[in-house]
Amino acid sequence: MKKINRLGLLTSGGDAPGMNAAIRAIVRTAIYENIEPIGIYRGYTGLIKGEMEVMHSRSVSNIIQRGGTILKSARSKEFMTKNGRTQAFENLQKNNIDALVVIGGDGTFTGARIFGEEFDFPIVGLPGTIDNDLFGTDFTIGYDTAINTVVEAVDKIRDTADSHDRLFIIEVMGRDAGFIALRSGIATGAEKILIPESKTYIDNLIRLLRHDWSKNKTSGIIIVAEGDDSGGAFEVAKKVNEKFDQYETRITILGHIQRGGSPTAMDRVLASRLGYKAVKALVEGEKDVMIGEINREIVYTPFEKSIKHHQTVSLELLEIARVLAI
Ligand code: F6P
Repeated sequence: MKKINRLGLLTSGGDAPGMNAAIRAIVRTAIYENIEPIGIYRGYTGLIKGEMEVMHSRSVSNIIQRGGTILKSARSKEFMTKNGRTQAFENLQKNNIDALVVIGGDGTFTGARIFGEEFDFPIVGLPGTIDNDLFGTDFTIGYDTAINTVVEAVDKIRDTADSHDRLFIIEVMGRDAGFIALRSGIATGAEKILIPESKTYIDNLIRLLRHDWSKNKTSGIIIVAEGDDSGGAFEVAKKVNEKFDQYETRITILGHIQRGGSPTAMDRVLASRLGYKAVKALVEGEKDVMIGEINREIVYTPFEKSIKHHQTVSLELLEIARVLAI
């Protein structure tokens, strides 16, 4: 097993609150282990261009509480090509980097897996995405902050919904997964939650809304995940209003406010723990794995598995939301 002297780290894909806490943990654990950490900017894009610099303990001072990523992020098309990856490998060699930690989601790990195999290069990944859709961890870095942001926003919208007797259809992020919608929906007492993992029948929804109306529910909140098969908040509003127009309807797309902001304590602790373990894992000779936390234990999941499988949403939670909204 080759000793690691220099370790590269990068953030890639959609940014997520807590990525900075992970960067801090990786940099400081590496220094503790006598490894020189090299920060790579703009994910794989910066790796291909050679945008990198040595990091020190003080480079990561005062960032644990900051959203976004000081290393910046990008979704690199070039890294999907053999040419791009070869350039990336050459830059790693030129800078004497022996191993990599990548923080990101599905796309990031897909790139890491191909690259690691092609060049026999040690890489481990940390799950950093607000979507919580990665297999091999109970929670991804950024998810807890994102749902708390949604909850704060929906609580405010609820005030207006109630004051004006309106039905609000609120679209949240999650292009392939309903985790954000489901948890924030339960936490805000949403009347309906529409997620991609469960087929949406508009007639069913209208039937439930009619029932609510007949029971003197004068206002309501529907949370819809952007990836829901109904087509999103505008489509749901259109289809509902065509057949049932008792409620005055408004639409809110929460958008990118869900990706920013200071990470919650839970995300900071998760990121610190996983960042520390990422360096330890590489030192112990681990590679090609995502480092996650399941039932409070650290678990290594091969990239291949974490990409292929998807974390499953609890349909029981959906049922609980339905029962509690009567
Ligand atoms: O993957 C995270 C995510 O926030 C998704 O929920 C969303 O669909 C997507 O990124 C948006 O990406 P972008 O910021 O590139 O538009």
